[in-house]
This record gives sequence, C-alpha cells and structure tokens, in this order.
Amino acid sequence: MTDVVTPSPFFLATEPYERHRLYAELSASGSVHRVVLPHGETVWFVTDYELSRAVLTDPRLMKVEPPFADQLAPGLRAAINSNMLYADPPAHTRLRKLVSAAFTRRRVEGLAPRVQSLTDELLDPLARRAETGFDLLAEFTYPLTMGVICELLGVPLSGREHFRDWTEAVTNLTVLGPDSYEKANAELVDYMRGLISAKRAQPADDLVSGLVAARDGGDQLTEDEMTSTMHVLLIAGHETTANLIGNSVRGFLTRPGMWPMLRADPTQVPAAIEEVLRYDPPLQTIPRRRASQDLELGGVTIPVGGMVVVGMMAANHNIDETPNPHDLDLSNPQSAHLAFGHGIHFCVGAPLSRLEGRIALTSLLERFPDLRLSVPAAEVRTAPGLLMNVMETLPVTTRPA
Ligand code: HEM
Repeated sequence: MTDVVTPSPFFLATEPYERHRLYAELSASGSVHRVVLPHGETVWFVTDYELSRAVLTDPRLMKVEPPFADQLAPGLRAAINSNMLYADPPAHTRLRKLVSAAFTRRRVEGLAPRVQSLTDELLDPLARRAETGFDLLAEFTYPLTMGVICELLGVPLSGREHFRDWTEAVTNLTVLGPDSYEKANAELVDYMRGLISAKRAQPADDLVSGLVAARDGGDQLTEDEMTSTMHVLLIAGHETTANLIGNSVRGFLTRPGMWPMLRADPTQVPAAIEEVLRYDPPLQTIPRRRASQDLELGGVTIPVGGMVVVGMMAANHNIDETPNPHDLDLSNPQSAHLAFGHGIHFCVGAPLSRLEGRIALTSLLERFPDLRLSVPAAEVRTAPGLLMNVMETLPVTTRPA
C-alpha cells in the first residue's frame, strides 16, 4: 500500500496526459493506496480493475453524499441529495425505478434527430471560422450537450444562461470550495422548483413532466426527490458527455492518421468512442463509498467509516485483456471499462451519451476533414479536479495545414 500524504498530484495535473502518467506510476506500486483529495480528505484509492468492480458491487460499501453536505441548509441539502446517486437499496431501487418510468428508451431514441439538428446548428457558423479557429469545448461540446439535456428535461431556451457556471461550481466542488457550491445549488434549486410548477400547470412531452407524472402503483416522487433527480440528470448528463466528445477529438487529432482513417470509415466511430471511454474517460474517479463495517480490500484492512474511491481512470488502464493499455489504440480489442460505473449505480445516461458522441463525432469528421489543433499539443492544458477529466480549452482550426 502506498501512503501519499500531500494532496495527490493526479488531481492537480495540468500538463497534457500528465495525469495518465501519474496514475500509471501509482498503479505500479500496488492496488489500494492512501490518497489525499483536493479538499484535504484522505481516502483509500483503488487502482486495480477487478478490485474496483468488486468495490462497486460490495453492499458493505455504502453511498455517501458529496463532501460538505452537512454544511448546507437542511432544505437545500434535501433538494439536491435525495436522488438515486446517493442512495442505497431499498431507497435506490425505488428512486431508480420511478425515474426509469420517465427516462424511457423511446424518449432517448426519439432525441436522435434533435441531436443531429442541434449539432448542425452549432457547426454551420463554425464552418465559416476557418481563419480564426475556435475553442471546440466552449463553442461546440458544451452548448451541444447542454442543449440536449435541456431539451430532454424541457428547460426553455431563456432559462439556460447560468447552467454552465452552476454545473462547474457543483462538479468541481473539491477544488472551488463550499461557498460557490452552496450559492450555485441555491440558484439551481430555485430555478428547478419554478420549472416543476410550470410543468405541473402545463405538462409537455418532456422529462420534467414525465417525472411529475411518474407513478409506481401508489408511489410517486416527492418534491425534493424531483428537484434532486433533475439536479443529478442535469449535472451528470452535461459535462460528462462534453468531455467524451472533447477527449475523443483531442485523442483522434493527436495520433497520426486517426482522423482520416475514421473519416474514411465512420462505422468505426462507436468502437473508437469505447476506446476513448477506456483510455481517457470523462470522469477520472467514481464518487466515494463508506465502509459500513471493517473489511478487507486487496489485502488492506479498511476500518468502519473508511472512505473508498475508485480511481476509475487508473483502473481502466489495468484491464488484463488490453494489449496496449497506456495509449489510445484503436486496434486494442474492445473490452469492458468502468467509464459508466458498474453494478446497481451503472450510468442511467450511457445510451444517450453514446448517441450524442456518435452523432457529434461523425458530423465533425464529415464536415471538417482538415480539423486540427491550432496550438501545439503540449499547450492543451488539463483542468485540475477530482471528478472530471477535462481540458481547459481545445483550440482547433478547420483550415488545411
Ligand atoms: C459520457 C458521459 C457519462 C459518463 C462518463 C457518466 C458516468 C457515470 C458514472 C461513472 C456513474 C456511476 C456513479 C457511481 O457509481 O457512483 C453514473 C451514474 C449516473 N449517471 Fe452518468 N455518465 C455520463 C452521462 C450521463 C447522462 C447523459 C446522464 C443523464 C441524462 C447521466 C445520468 C446518470 C445518473 C442519474 C446516474 C446515477 C445512477 C444510479 O445511481 O443508479 N449520466 N454516470
């Protein structure tokens, strides 16, 4: 077991692919490590793939709310944390079932034409910016994935201007601190409560109206469960998918021949996306679990109350069947990965993200055969954080070299 005593460097890494190297070094020294999170908390950090799967299905490791939850006003805390992501069975089973009743396959598949037209609306003006170039994250991946989740939920255009800032404050809590987290959540909850009452008065064919109407026998979501579910869908469903598209584009553009090869055969895009999900996943870690009793993990004793974090990005590079685990290699055979989690909390939005990723990437390949980075690859910085694995910006140009 490695004992890391200062805030661990992988979360603060900013050099391109530096995090990948640091995680590889950590994994080489064992499977379970003592690691300090950006806000100072020390946890047991698992980097072995099989052990990570075991953690995610072990009923003795319980879900916990995000850090600083006990500093929030009780009303706000209930309005954001009463959803499936922070619940164990039987509450988890009940919440996930009620949400699944509204978050149907039909609703997701029905979004494909809208994802395509949102993609086209964003790419049309960018096609005219060959001379200046643009930041693909700010001008394409974030607006696209935000647009899709807002359409799905039924958030009108006029309400969307603060969503990116609110999401950033919530997902990067451990780096930005509890004050901006509380403020963003208070504003977001206010907004969502207003939206729920509007949909109650005038239901539409969207997910918020679906959540208001969702029933399982006599059971239905409470007001807090509804705002909290909208909260998790909005936050989990937006930046993650934006990262998937951004990390894919950076990966494909910085490996010789990959962009033209995918352009020549776009049927390979879904498999290429799976390889990005393995090698450069949108999240680097899976939220903490708490030991409900003393237990042993890979030869290490975790005492009751101990916090365990799955170092998913590291674990994805430690899958036995991957011949070339430490690079994005489209000839690696498709293997399972942990990018969407594992077990009962497996990501509800995985089919939607894969759909968005496929449409966004095939459209970029088709429209922009000459797409390339407009700065040296060494200048594409990684953003510090515990949860997200994201770049600061991704400057590109569509102008031929
Ligand atoms: C590439 C994009 C995405 C990635 C990498 C991702 C990743 C994950 C992971 C790792 C988990 C498991 C968390 C845990 O075990 O604690 C999870 C759960 C979840 N995700 Fe996603 N997600 C993505 C997109 C989405 C989208 C688009 C939505 C919704 C529209 C969504 C909604 C959820 C929800 C509600 C859960 C909680 C499930 C439960 O607790 O039962 N995610 N996601």
